[in-house]
Amino acid sequence: MSPPSEKIIIGSDHAGYALKEFIKTELDRLGIQHKDIGTNSMDSVDYPIYAARVAKGVASGEYARGIAICGSGLGASMVANRFKGIRAALCVTEDMARYSRQHNNANVLVLGERITPLDIASKVLRIWLEEEFEGGRHERRVKQIDEITEKEDL
Ligand code: RB5
Repeated sequence: MSPPSEKIIIGSDHAGYALKEFIKTELDRLGIQHKDIGTNSMDSVDYPIYAARVAKGVASGEYARGIAICGSGLGASMVANRFKGIRAALCVTEDMARYSRQHNNANVLVLGERITPLDIASKVLRIWLEEEFEGGRHERRVKQIDEITEKEDL
């Protein structure tokens, strides 16, 4: 398999469309390439389709990281986290963005347009892009995420 693209895969439903467009301009400003998988207007669509497209792009190894957006961020994170290998983090504060990278190695950032003002979304994005996974004890725990549902002796 070819190495994951440095491009970020991004998608939203109608309720996250405006924030998606804003985040794309922020990515442009930072010189980060992105692949937009829709939706392309504020016409009502179903968030599971768009969150799943983002999650699939990352879970398949094609993209190293993704951004999924809906109205609250809740539906998109529920969907994305169904995919093996996906660690989707709904971040509403800068601290959440920082910990999601340092401790959880989040590979999908989830945002909610209805709950996150643009100035906070911009800060959350930047932190999520810049912070590194700390590894160490967190490596073991992150590995457990994908194995935990198979484990019988909990
Ligand atoms: C759409 O109205 C809204 O339900 C959706 O964007 C999301 O917030 C679901 O969790």
